[in-house]
Amino acid sequence: MYRTRTCGDLRLADEGLIVTLAGWVQKTRKMGGMTFVDIRDRYGITQLVFNQEVDASLCEKANKLGREYVIQVTGTVRERSSKNAHIPTGDIELIVSKLTVLNSAITPPFTIEDETDGGDDLRMKYRYLDLRRNVVRANLELRHKMAFEVRNYLDKQGFLEVETPVLVNSTPEGARDFVVPSRMNPGQFYALPQSPQTLKQLLMVSGFDRYFQIVKCFRDEDLRADRQPEFTQIDCEMSFVEQEDIITTFEGMAKHLFKVIRDITIKEPFQRMTWHDAMKYYGSDKPDLRFGMKFVELMDVMKGYGFSVFDNAAYIGGICAEGAASYTRKQLDQLTEFVKRSQIGAKGLVYARVEADGNVKSSVDKFYPQETLQEMKNAFGAKPGDLILILSGDDAMKTRKQLCELRLEMGNQLGLRDKNKFACLWVIDFPLFEWNEEDQRFYAMHHPFTSPKPEDIPLLDTDPGAVRASAYDMVINGVEVGGGSIRIHDSQLQDKMFRLLGFTEERAQEQFGFLMNAFKYGAPPHGGLAYGLDRWVSLFAGLDSIRDCIAFPKNNSGRDVMLDAPSVIDDSQLEELCLQVNIKE
Ligand code: AMO
Repeated sequence: MYRTRTCGDLRLADEGLIVTLAGWVQKTRKMGGMTFVDIRDRYGITQLVFNQEVDASLCEKANKLGREYVIQVTGTVRERSSKNAHIPTGDIELIVSKLTVLNSAITPPFTIEDETDGGDDLRMKYRYLDLRRNVVRANLELRHKMAFEVRNYLDKQGFLEVETPVLVNSTPEGARDFVVPSRMNPGQFYALPQSPQTLKQLLMVSGFDRYFQIVKCFRDEDLRADRQPEFTQIDCEMSFVEQEDIITTFEGMAKHLFKVIRDITIKEPFQRMTWHDAMKYYGSDKPDLRFGMKFVELMDVMKGYGFSVFDNAAYIGGICAEGAASYTRKQLDQLTEFVKRSQIGAKGLVYARVEADGNVKSSVDKFYPQETLQEMKNAFGAKPGDLILILSGDDAMKTRKQLCELRLEMGNQLGLRDKNKFACLWVIDFPLFEWNEEDQRFYAMHHPFTSPKPEDIPLLDTDPGAVRASAYDMVINGVEVGGGSIRIHDSQLQDKMFRLLGFTEERAQEQFGFLMNAFKYGAPPHGGLAYGLDRWVSLFAGLDSIRDCIAFPKNNSGRDVMLDAPSVIDDSQLEELCLQVNIKE
């Protein structure tokens, strides 16, 4: 046996036992005639003791151990004289009687400690070493536990896990596809699934009325902290259900995960907000509701006083930051710089402090009488000590988005976005379509299989832009952790949808004929949802980026720097695939 126990489980109660451990050398310390070695495996760290006086040659051997050597030791568990309260094995040590070096190691490029000296790129290049670190390993353990609990919950609810293929055709989720050439079908390509959307709908036609799959999805889109080109969905679909059934089932899963993973009892039912209200009051379809600062529109209050910026604006709105009137001129200038940054693009920021006597002092005092400023203050319900921040612009949606960024920044600055506090929200009633000015056409806001709300179906012919969808997103702390919809199960309605999205009959047939045909063979009413597993794990682990809960993630340019992928392929491989590379400058 390589080991009888792990490096994390010996306690005072094991005193006197003879055990064998195997693991990596974390560090060695020589103190007089004693040598101490910390041995590490994924379960923890145990202190090993070698005594020069008892066995000089064994101690010599221990002195030669380098960092990250793989060793096996046998020894007796003994109570430590100086205990270490920071680690679970801190009450004991192992008096070693036998040491075997299983493998040596060259010096790692960074220290394998919680606080490492390795930068991001280096850690990614040597990710297998980075994964030895407690903090990173803990994230993967959490991920495993969450996937396990997801299966547990869904199994109990009668869901069946079914695998769907990875080499498929394009699935329109709004991003670009990763494509794979086919040697046996020259000039033809598979696409990697952006999600198993159409396949899970076909499974409903087949009668698998409760499907799920923990599945890799692939999207060639610009990367952000919460986006990876390949990520994992908890993909689900149900038949004979309405929106309410799906919301209840997946709110139940969220509640289960919060309880078993974080021991948090989440209050049900989760808050719900229409997409329209989310945009109006928070400027985002994924508002962070851990804090208030709801937008207040000020068009009626602030227009018509000769302040041209406001007088010409299509939208004037603001937020009230409680207790922030103490912000200095410098801090306010920095906020102004923040909203003017190119990513946000506001022209400027108007601010107003509510003073101790209730008077309002603003940066535009010369245009507004105190009476109007009081009216504004009342619109926010602002109190002495509060700070009001106002943005305006000639495009209402754009200005709301800018105000959303400012609200989040203020939330950060005022410490209102506590990672251990969770605000769960369903955003419902999304528009079915999104108008694209550039292409002068509608795009599906969710995907083309999403059903319009039954009462809005007549509007498809008269005012498609006003049609609401039976679609819902779950948002936690401003992160979209999942989304889904009731699907169209009628081939004629699906056909109409494709037409509104600008598909010709031929193209719709070519791309989605299989689905529309299937619907002719008795498709049950169905709907579903997909949670983003990576986002759930990083939310529970309090991470800033989903990268840290993925074993081997891609960097911001979509590269795996460890594997050095993507990479060029041999000419012979290209030839076999009938491909030519033609890179334009
Ligand atoms: P959607 O596109 O909203 O819906 O995706 C579902 C969830 O997957 C997560 N997600 C991502 N996570 C990491 N990196 C990405 N690039 C990424 N893209 C999406 C999000 C998101 O909420 N087929 C539909 C679901 C359905 O209608 O049933 C779909 O894919 O958490």
